Amino acid sequence: MSESDVKDMSQLVSLAKRRGFIFQSSEIYGGLTSCWDYGPYGVELKNNLKSTWWKAMTLRSDVVGVDSSIFMHPEVWRASGHVDGFNDPMVDCKECKSRFREDKIDTSKPCMVCGAKDSFTEPRDFNLMFSTQMGPVEDSSAKVYLRPETAQGIFVNFLNVQATMRKKLPFGIAQIGKAFRNEITPGNFIFRTREFEQMEMQFFVKPGSQVEAMKTWKDIRWNWHVANGLRTENIRWHEHVGDELAHYADAAFDIEYKFPHGWDEMEGIHSRTDFDLKKHQEFSGKNLFYTDAADNNKKYLPYVLETSVGCDRCLLAVLADAYRVENEGDKDKERVVMKFHPSLAPVKVAVLPLVKKLDEKATELFNDIQKDFVAEYDLAGSIGKRYRRQDEIGTPFCVTFDFDSLEDNAVTVRDRDSMTQERVSISNLKKYLSERL
Ligand code: GAP
Repeated sequence: MSESDVKDMSQLVSLAKRRGFIFQSSEIYGGLTSCWDYGPYGVELKNNLKSTWWKAMTLRSDVVGVDSSIFMHPEVWRASGHVDGFNDPMVDCKECKSRFREDKIDTSKPCMVCGAKDSFTEPRDFNLMFSTQMGPVEDSSAKVYLRPETAQGIFVNFLNVQATMRKKLPFGIAQIGKAFRNEITPGNFIFRTREFEQMEMQFFVKPGSQVEAMKTWKDIRWNWHVANGLRTENIRWHEHVGDELAHYADAAFDIEYKFPHGWDEMEGIHSRTDFDLKKHQEFSGKNLFYTDAADNNKKYLPYVLETSVGCDRCLLAVLADAYRVENEGDKDKERVVMKFHPSLAPVKVAVLPLVKKLDEKATELFNDIQKDFVAEYDLAGSIGKRYRRQDEIGTPFCVTFDFDSLEDNAVTVRDRDSMTQERVSISNLKKYLSERL
């Protein structure tokens, strides 16, 4: 049997649409660029991904969660540097009005859209934050931003959480939520979009212990991706050096994934020093010092180790990694199968009566299975076609109820990856599935 991986993004876009994972936003109106809607299987997959992240990050004594609001006081974004520094230098073509990132084109050449020569404007900074008005009055005092990262909602709550949860350093705060950036060059499906979800954690440590924290969290985050089933040959580290290192960071590593468009950033693990707390202390005028009871009540601003992963981007890696075509080109044997890790698979079990006549009994079994597993019931089409459909949505097990089932109270369980089939008694079925899922 031959097996090939995903070759280009169009295969994922096509499967995602065909099988109800991801649709173009507002499609009936012609779509909205770089905006995507998650369909029924997509939302299950995304929820599973978020749930494994949440559990991995917060089912420990030294990390707690928050859910902060998307709108924040406008001063937050001045303090964080986003108002003044979150810019891409842009040039416009004076003829066709197309806009480009200056660092992505050669401005001495003709415009690549209309071919006009010497048509580019001087570069101008373009802020990536979306803004809107809060309340009914449209003036500059009512201007608020849609957060471009979830991290600031954690920083401004540092003392609230520390005090109410009686946390001692080192401890972390985790959050999952939407972020918005008016990206100039969105694209590559859900890789870079203007609305996306982040899963971020800020780990507050005593200054001087950030190197050790970096080591610990690098391991934890790498292992999380591996536990989700990503193949190690498809992930690698990228260390930020020289100019790449943000002004506030003293060390930064990305976990890159080998996406269909090439190696690219999936997650950032950044040692952010005390930059953010210091800035919020300065701009808010509030004392954000931590009193260290373990060190003679010394007062200081903690250092921060951040782990930040885009949920959608991670989901794209999961889709790409799971995608396999077996026996490509062989009309009878070709199959597309999503080899999701069982914990991420949107549907865990499909119950398939062999023929319509067995509907009633098979439905009884399905109703029982559904109490414990996300399950699907499918009666339409040949059994082969139904298997292929479940393969494409990555269902780990198909349970076929046949005529013998009426006699022997057993069913055939087919394994998605090996396609091997096993006869399992109905009384033992749930135990069998739990052990394997
Ligand atoms: N708080 C740090 C921060 O936001 P970042 O490197 O700008 O750092 C972190 O973003 C992660 O968020 C990225 O590694 C990526 O996974 C995700 N991300 C950033 N911009 C994105 C976009 N436009 N579309 C989808 N995901 C994005």
